Amino acid sequence: MENRVYKITLIEGDGIGHEVIPAARTVLEATGLSFVFDEAEAGWETFERIGTSVPEETVEKIERSDATLFGAATSPTKKVEGFFGAIRHLRRRLDLFANVRPAKYHPVPGATPGTDLIVVRENTEGLYVEQERRYARGRVAIADRVITYDASYRIVEFALELAERRKGRLALVHKANVLPLSDGLFLEAAYDAAKRHPTVEIEEVIVDACAMRLVRDPSQFDVLVMENLFGDIISDLTAGLVGGLGIAPSGNIGERAAIFEPVHGSAPDIADKGIANPTATILSAAMMLDHLGEPQVARTIEDAVDAVLEAGPRTPDLGGKATTQEFAEAVAEKLKELLRT
Ligand code: NAI
Ligand code: MG
Repeated sequence: MENRVYKITLIEGDGIGHEVIPAARTVLEATGLSFVFDEAEAGWETFERIGTSVPEETVEKIERSDATLFGAATSPTKKVEGFFGAIRHLRRRLDLFANVRPAKYHPVPGATPGTDLIVVRENTEGLYVEQERRYARGRVAIADRVITYDASYRIVEFALELAERRKGRLALVHKANVLPLSDGLFLEAAYDAAKRHPTVEIEEVIVDACAMRLVRDPSQFDVLVMENLFGDIISDLTAGLVGGLGIAPSGNIGERAAIFEPVHGSAPDIADKGIANPTATILSAAMMLDHLGEPQVARTIEDAVDAVLEAGPRTPDLGGKATTQEFAEAVAEKLKELLRT
């Protein structure tokens, strides 16, 4: 077989990003695939040093590479003049319209067996257009929630294609009972897109009922698609179903670029201690390989992660004593063993 060389941009970002990205790199290097890694910077530390959280050079590197693996970036809770959130900026700048968040059972405490679903979150509009205003001497605030036919069609089309490769079921998650004009438009676009995918079984679910059904029995879902804020909240819920932030991977996918990242943030409370759980980043790296056309290797990484989560060593958040790098090396060893057999 021809040996492809994958060009991967690595962005550590802030906090535990500096720990989980090297850990995932250790695992990628154990796959036997050929990579050229290029490091780029983004985030709060970058802003403090050079006055922007996303340098132009970083955008160019992401566009030039086959895919990017991103750690996490810190955002201050107070408004800082000139600062913008790195990942939000990149999603918009590169039109990474699909935020893909799988929630799959892995053997960790608190995870619900039988969970194997994917939340597809629209990544470019909704409330995240960040248009807020105050009126009435500051006593009234309004935020715009933008829903367009085109963005809705595009995200549902993406979810339909994903569903076709999986169990063939798609839940359209909405609140059209209260928001018939905006979420009604989302549904209209969704059914237009669905006409071209007659084999996918479509179900409409109102977002609040969706939250309840997910908690009671997540195994009833395959792919779920929804607008930005619903996706933000529901995908944190589904991350909780499979053991929390240390586990949950994600992808931000567009036509021109793709960035894979753990769902968690920069975790300043545990940064620099070498104890962050790199599972979410390693699973994000596996998603990246699947996206690049290496589904077999991606699945083997998942199997290696599961084997180590089961037998140890585990990181402290899962009750173990392993460092970030010790866990990653155990996964890398297991991976090499599985790839040999
Ligand atoms: P967080 O995800 O960083 O941390 C929440 C809690 O989970 C903390 O107690 C943390 O120690 C723990 N945790 C997170 N990841 C872990 C891991 N891999 N291993 C073990 N424990 C882990 O969320 P938080 O504290 O709300 O935000 C911290 C910073 O991260 C903020 O500046 C926030 O803006 C940023 N953030 C960035 C994201 C991104 O880059 N995509 C996403 C979410 C938050
Ligand atoms: Mg979130």
